Amino acid sequence: MAAALGVDIVDIRRIREAARRRPKFLPRVFTPEEIAYCRTKSDPWPHFAVRFAAKEAVWKAAGMKGIFLKDISVARDASGRPWALIRGRKRPGIEISLSHSRDYAVAVAMKSR
Ligand SMILES: CC(C)(COP(=O)(O)OP(=O)(O)OC[C@H]1O[C@@H](n2cnc3c(N)ncnc32)[C@H](O)[C@@H]1OP(=O)(O)O)[C@@H](O)C(=O)NCCC(=O)NCCS
Repeated sequence: MAAALGVDIVDIRRIREAARRRPKFLPRVFTPEEIAYCRTKSDPWPHFAVRFAAKEAVWKAAGMKGIFLKDISVARDASGRPWALIRGRKRPGIEISLSHSRDYAVAVAMKSR
């Protein structure tokens, strides 16, 4: 197998409602850097949701045991291009792409072998 793929789609409303219902949801799932980035947006919820989708997509592609959602995070370069960190470190061979509309956020991840 040349590469492994992972994809995830998230209903933005579910993330917003989970955060409003449970104050610990955001810090339990997202790193402080992710929370700070999303909070710079006038509507942070598509950005939180797409990061949630990215964590699930990377988890599917990377197939690593013992990895939890907060272990996977999304960083970005100056152009806004995202990349995945696992426990704060960039792992070679893992690429992600993210997109969000009004209602849904989607992420795809690829891990080359
Ligand atoms: C960057 C760009 C592609 C984002 O597309 P969009 O339709 O506005 O928004 P989407 O919901 O699909 O994607 C948003 C995500 O794209 C990602 N993104 C942003 N800049 C990016 C870049 N330079 N490269 C790859 N991904 C990028 C981010 O993860 C962003 O989500 P985030 O802000 O929560 O991190 C777009 O704004 C852009 O600048 N396009 C260039 C226009 C152009 O030349 N188009 C012709 C292509 S043929």
